[in-house]
Amino acid sequence: MILVTGGAGFIGANFVLDWLGNAAEPVLNLDKLTYAGNPANLAALKGDARHTFVRGDIGDQALVERLLAEHRPRAVVNFAAESHVDRSIHGPGDFVQTNVLGTFRLLEAVRGYWQGLPEAERSAFRFLHVSTDEVYGSLGADDPAFSETTPYAPNSPYSASKAGSDHMVRAWHHTYGLPTLTTNCSNNYGPFQFPEKLIPLMVLNATQGKPLPVYGDGANVRDWLYVGDHCSAIREVLARGRVGEVYNVGGNAERKNIDVVRTMCAILDEAHPAGKPHDRLITYVKDRPGHDRRYAIDASKIERELGWRPSVRFEDGLARTVRWYLDHADWVQGILSGEYRKWIETNYGSRGSSPSTASL
Ligand code: NAD
Ligand code: TYD
Repeated sequence: MILVTGGAGFIGANFVLDWLGNAAEPVLNLDKLTYAGNPANLAALKGDARHTFVRGDIGDQALVERLLAEHRPRAVVNFAAESHVDRSIHGPGDFVQTNVLGTFRLLEAVRGYWQGLPEAERSAFRFLHVSTDEVYGSLGADDPAFSETTPYAPNSPYSASKAGSDHMVRAWHHTYGLPTLTTNCSNNYGPFQFPEKLIPLMVLNATQGKPLPVYGDGANVRDWLYVGDHCSAIREVLARGRVGEVYNVGGNAERKNIDVVRTMCAILDEAHPAGKPHDRLITYVKDRPGHDRRYAIDASKIERELGWRPSVRFEDGLARTVRWYLDHADWVQGILSGEYRKWIETNYGSRGSSPSTASL
């Protein structure tokens, strides 16, 4: 079995659903259920004995040690993180707490467990750390895309905290021999993304007739990857990646923010004609402080070594994603009404970090 952390969030939940759709191997899912963790993302697994959910913090070393000893996973996939740049600007403390200290505690728990494994299990064990292209900083319009050897130059509290976690993963491999793998991925989009990020926020605002806030001049560039393609990349790296290596994962889909928003408006004009034309809602707002101008990923290493490449064309994935949010009004409503927070309090009580298990 494998231990997945942060598996109630956007990418983690997609990964768990995808994993159990592709393999019979069970998943132990450890998630703190912060505002971004949503049990409704895992509703399809209700009653599935292959999925065990534990509410808890990756920074709770005693809990992680106990879970490792009890479940004896052959791999850990670490998604758990604070992930939103805007939140990191307003409150960097949580980012240092989880992304830096939490990853440190997790690594220490995993190191102790791994060192105690019999030789065959020790050498087969993997710790896969899911990271971001944002650790490489910002590109100019004509700069080459980020490769695995691009120097780290994080600019936001979020990316600085992820960079810290990446460095520790690297050091735990070099110093202790922990069999680590790191993936640095570009911006993801798809189902179950918390509507504070660009794409789901724009769908929700547009369907409610609210302004579509575009930061600055709207010309910042992101390289977009459909979340299902990220999941398949992680599966490949976990299965066949070379121990201690880093793999960049990207969508070959660089787009300016304003172009993404305009494309979404056109999709919505067809799919949700009531509010059309949706682009009348586009509103330029004050820029994000320190806003990175451009991200782009050179994913040639993962393609060359593991044969992975993205399968979903950006405009197709975007149309599919917009449709998903329109078709899942209950999920959206649950978030907007705070219903899922109530569910968490009812099921787990108000003590944020108290671990407990539940079948979801
Ligand atoms: P998310 O914010 O949607 O989900 C994060 C999950 O981690 C939530 O379920 C949350 O409850 C959980 N969590 C937070 N702190 C925790 C802790 N201390 N212990 C246990 N669980 C905790 O984030 P996401 O977009 O799904 O991102 C997942 C990972 O992928 C992150 O590490 C992020 O840095 C990385 N990443 C994200 C993107 C992207 O575009 N979203 C791109 C590249 C890399
Ligand atoms: P976001 O989804 O927050 O991801 P990241 O900051 O990790 O790249 O933002 C994607 C891009 O969209 C980024 O350049 C900021 C911009 N943006 C807006 O213009 N308006 C918004 O309301 C949001 C949330 C983001």
